[in-house]
Amino acid sequence: MTAGASQMRDVAADFPILTREINGKSLVYLDSAATSQTPQVVVDALVRYYTETRASVHRGVYPLIEEATELFEGARERIAGWLGSTVEETIFTSNATAAINLVSHSWARTNLNPGDTVLVTEMEHHSDLVPWQLVCLERGATLEYIPVLDDWQLDLDAYDRLLERKPKLVGIAHISNVLGTINPVAEMTRRAHDAGAVVVIDGTQAVPQIQVDLREIDADFYAWTGHKVYGPTGIGVLHGRRELLEEMPPFISGGHMIRQVFEATSTWTELPGKFEAGTSQIAEAIGLGAAVDYVNELGIDAIRAHELALTAELLERFAEFPGLKIHGPADAADRGALVSFEIEGAHPHDIGEILGRDNVCVRTGHHCAQTLMRRLGIGSSARASFAVHNTSADIDRLMDGLENVRRVMAL
Ligand SMILES: Cc1ncc(COP(=O)(O)O)c(C=O)c1O
Repeated sequence: MTAGASQMRDVAADFPILTREINGKSLVYLDSAATSQTPQVVVDALVRYYTETRASVHRGVYPLIEEATELFEGARERIAGWLGSTVEETIFTSNATAAINLVSHSWARTNLNPGDTVLVTEMEHHSDLVPWQLVCLERGATLEYIPVLDDWQLDLDAYDRLLERKPKLVGIAHISNVLGTINPVAEMTRRAHDAGAVVVIDGTQAVPQIQVDLREIDADFYAWTGHKVYGPTGIGVLHGRRELLEEMPPFISGGHMIRQVFEATSTWTELPGKFEAGTSQIAEAIGLGAAVDYVNELGIDAIRAHELALTAELLERFAEFPGLKIHGPADAADRGALVSFEIEGAHPHDIGEILGRDNVCVRTGHHCAQTLMRRLGIGSSARASFAVHNTSADIDRLMDGLENVRRVMAL
């Protein structure tokens, strides 16, 4: 499949970095699940802010600051609207990890009691796992795991049994960053709510790849990160249910998040400012707004179709490759646009390093999912992931590179 075979226009020219050669080889970037590349329109939005509109936001009344505030809040409005949220329920953080920590520090620390249960899936990224471990330890609560079946889907019968324990909170990855599994988060949220639990979805891999409708999912909190959706680094988003956000105490405190400060106490400003202490991620939010516009211009359905076709093609090519084992669902339709794999006799680190010599970039390691790695019976894997700019030619280069791995490793 070439870019032209999908519904999407050829976007390679939108990404300046794709002209970058290393060792005389053009760049094949297959690591967007770790961090995506930046289209020129996002760079332009950042440069415009820094060269034409730079000022703080919400802290004065001169024209420049009003322009900056308009750009910043305009970005929030478009980002919120894109996913079906509201501006009050859309909080800027520094990344997805910070967004989830906001919930664990503010909601969970106040609401968990000794003997309570928190559920997470066996396929969580450390960002949606370690915060729950810490707060459970602190509050005397128990962390339980929703198991993954051998077809790499969540065991929903086991989930129902776990829900009988009336957990206070359930944490679910929308798309696994290792298996690619797309979890049925709307249905799981419905069941959790019936059991009285609050639901946190880690949407970090989903937002760049598939259509996300927060109204349909109806989770209490949904966290994601800007740098995987063609936006700048240093910005994440937490969408939260207004009633919960209003009840919750602030997480980080200081400037901007207050209404009145007295000698011994303070009161808090309205949402979302209550959770955005200090000077905001102004440039980053504006850049993320431009990234969301870019995704909208291409169309998330066209992006999904394009990446799904590439994933299906990669799975077919991988099936023919000697000694190669994939992790995650066999059918591309059940996955996001990423495939973790191993090759018998080759350490993932060697795979990554040898591919790197050809300027083919894949992720290697434990993918910040060590509990899942143990479930898979491995310490690490390689992972190829797609973005809008990838084409079949990139898969050809990956497969050539893997042949080279076989040669170098004498497999
Ligand atoms: C599923 C998932 N959750 C959370 C994160 C953490 O994102 P960030 O490092 O931007 O906070 C990642 C990043 O790899 C991820 O893949």
